[in-house]
Amino acid sequence: MRRKLAAGNWKMNGTGAALAELEALAARYPTPEVDILICPPATLLERAATTVESSGVAVGGQDCHAESAGAHTGDISAEMLRDAGASAVILGHSERRVDHGEQNEDIRAKARAAMDAGLQAVICVGESLEQREAANTLDIIGGQMSGSIPDQSTGENLIIAYEPIWAIGTGKVPTLDEIGAVHDFIRARLERRFGEGVGRSVRVLYGGSVKPSNAAEIFGVSNVDGALVGGASLKADDFSGIVDALRAM
Ligand code: 13P
Repeated sequence: MRRKLAAGNWKMNGTGAALAELEALAARYPTPEVDILICPPATLLERAATTVESSGVAVGGQDCHAESAGAHTGDISAEMLRDAGASAVILGHSERRVDHGEQNEDIRAKARAAMDAGLQAVICVGESLEQREAANTLDIIGGQMSGSIPDQSTGENLIIAYEPIWAIGTGKVPTLDEIGAVHDFIRARLERRFGEGVGRSVRVLYGGSVKPSNAAEIFGVSNVDGALVGGASLKADDFSGIVDALRAM
């Protein structure tokens, strides 16, 4: 059985004051039946790691560089994230693919670095509205998967997040059938490439306008192992609603 995961991506939100929300979340979940991961901005990572110590909440980064050290001003390596207390890192988020021109091969190199540093790589895939309307969704997801997932992936070091770009921060969510079709496709691709053992053990999250009010129905879809949540992860009360929906599954 895959352990369920509720992951939060704070994106470029939060200064020190936001740690009160993390503290409230950690207090609520000392030993949850599901995994909980919060990815704050890098500036908060070390303080966040201290805040969640001895709780069931883990912390992660939102990006890393493909190299472990060197002349890369402004960048952060996987080792540095790990050193700051991260156990995971989000890679290939559509905002980085678009804002920073990240390509599948860049994301694969970053994922290798993350796995080599002992981090779980949360690799994001997802189609634009234009691609969905042209019925290209599965082709796009398949291409992103084969290009950005490294060969060394296992059920322990890889997590996939399916995030349709048009559902991020918009309040729009695909139908449950549409989510199920993509998640089943991702599962089949993982099994084909890595074999049934590894393919069945990798967790596949849904992301894009997940809220306490729609979480339970999304978590009921086949091959949805949890969520990657943006806006609703910023407040402990909202995120707890999502965590509790996952615990109830
Ligand atoms: P929202 O939950 O705000 O739509 O963001 C989803 C997301 O991009 C998580 O990585």
